[in-house]
Amino acid sequence: MLAGKIALITGATSGIGMATARLFAERGATLLLSGRNADAGSALASELGADFFAADVAAPGAAGMLIDWAVRCHGRLDVLVNNAGILFQGDSQDCTDAQWDAVLAVNVTAVFRLSRAAVPVMAAQGGGAIVNVASDWGLVGAQKAVAYGTSKGAIVQLTRSMAADHARQGIRVNAVCPGDTDTPMLRVLAGAEQEARLREMAEAIPLGRIGQPRDAAAAIAFLASDDASFITGAMLPVDGGNSAV
Ligand SMILES: NC(=O)c1ccc[n+]([C@@H]2O[C@H](COP(=O)([O-])OP(=O)(O)OC[C@H]3O[C@@H](n4cnc5c(N)ncnc54)[C@H](OP(=O)(O)O)[C@@H]3O)[C@@H](O)[C@H]2O)c1
Repeated sequence: MLAGKIALITGATSGIGMATARLFAERGATLLLSGRNADAGSALASELGADFFAADVAAPGAAGMLIDWAVRCHGRLDVLVNNAGILFQGDSQDCTDAQWDAVLAVNVTAVFRLSRAAVPVMAAQGGGAIVNVASDWGLVGAQKAVAYGTSKGAIVQLTRSMAADHARQGIRVNAVCPGDTDTPMLRVLAGAEQEARLREMAEAIPLGRIGQPRDAAAAIAFLASDDASFITGAMLPVDGGNSAV
């Protein structure tokens, strides 16, 4: 259960983040939502009775601002879900400096800064849970996504490092590692012939289907909840078995 927990979710305006916000709301969490798309964020917030703050997580000062906002709203922060992420396709020869920098800024640096700002708040209240959204591509190599794969591998290690550092403060830090999940990000990746490509992707997954955003949301909700109170530093693949083979 998440009843009574104050939870901040980044990237709540689409895909996995939006499904997570809906599931957290169903389970009784008090929600603080963020993303850049103010229209989508405000609509979701009013649907769920949540608060929304439009922010680019990679902007200077944004991480501190978001955590301060959470504390101003509710006086505490029990759960931080670092979900916002971007992907550029391309191998080392295609990836520009700007793409590399953008992916690392959103997928890694912002996660670090948000988590760093959340730690003193959670430590002062006796604990909390940080759930990072990594990827199965942070566990295994993937072709033509060199910056993205690097960023998700970094999140895996950031999760372990922070779990080790902050366990005695009662702060659990875990990651979910989704595989192919039906969101706008995956549909862009699938490119032209989208439906055919999605069917091919599903065929290649041991469980024989693409993930739904709710699949990842359920794992995030579990790791954020007290049911996971003895779990920290864990990577939970939600990938239909992809990273197992
Ligand atoms: N879909 C998959 O197959 C898959 C697989 C493995 C891991 N993941 C991970 O799951 C997470 C969610 O992805 P998704 O599939 O749900 O993709 P999505 O539908 O494209 O959603 C991405 C979210 O991130 C937010 N975001 C991106 N850049 C941002 C920025 N600079 N500042 C603030 N928010 C930003 C977007 O919000 P705005 O547009 O409002 O800024 C959006 O809410 C990502 O970390 C992704 O890497 C996805």
